[in-house]
Amino acid sequence: MQVITQVSELRETMQALRCNGKSIGFVPTMGALHEGHLQLLRASVKDNDVTVCSIFVNPTQFNNPDDYKLYPRTLEADIALLQTTGCDFIFAPSPEAIYPQHTMLQFSFGALEQVMEGEQRPGHFNGVATIVSKFFNVVQPHKAYFGQKDLQQVAVIRQLILGLGFDIELVCYPTVRETDGLAMSSRNKRLTAEQRETAVSLHEALQLAKSQLKYESQESIKTAVAEYLQGKPEVQLEYFEIADPLTLQPVQSITDVKEVALCMAAYVGPVRLIDNLVVNLSEV
Ligand code: PAF
Repeated sequence: MQVITQVSELRETMQALRCNGKSIGFVPTMGALHEGHLQLLRASVKDNDVTVCSIFVNPTQFNNPDDYKLYPRTLEADIALLQTTGCDFIFAPSPEAIYPQHTMLQFSFGALEQVMEGEQRPGHFNGVATIVSKFFNVVQPHKAYFGQKDLQQVAVIRQLILGLGFDIELVCYPTVRETDGLAMSSRNKRLTAEQRETAVSLHEALQLAKSQLKYESQESIKTAVAEYLQGKPEVQLEYFEIADPLTLQPVQSITDVKEVALCMAAYVGPVRLIDNLVVNLSEV
């Protein structure tokens, strides 16, 4: 496994591999790797001749400076974990290598960025689209792997690939959970032991919502979720939405659709977590 920090070196290495007919899988990450990332890596290693993992805490996608500052950075441990997956290249550039000058790129994703994460974190998806476009340009992978936990991000990348005509297959990999159901996230590392215990209530609230989909109105499901979380110490619900899994727009009537995404963001202490469940309504 080789660690590359320079954009030009990564570009040349990838070009040579492509010329030799190798298929390239790409897993972009911000490091602080956990089992969720490792499963994406293993899927890429299985599907492709060569796998590249980027580790870069991207400043342009953080709308909260504290969140950027406190985001866990564990490069040595990440490298050791990646060694167990069969990953071939780690791309770990400095912010200056990626942003030699202040970026002014502007993307627009229309209604997709006006809800949930887009609404709550202004500029977030612009930063994600900027960095992912830069990476796609340099790596030019055949397949790129993203986790379903960031469902709205997956929808943004799908639109980015279509919009800019990247010849890349997007793979959306199911959310990996701890044994109690908490969605794996690098931000979980910031939770205290007590907060970690209550953090599972996000998943429990989503399960509660799922169990009510067949019988209750959207309004009463939303109330039930809010009430459930109100009883949990240090948990502050930011949003809970019942949305279309592809467009992420609110579903007008549950009875008219086949699938819904139950999406949530909540603070547990100072740590903001998101989670979702995509539910096939014929199975509830
Ligand atoms: O999902 C993430 O970790 C980040 O948003 C990504 C895709 C690596 C871009 O910085």
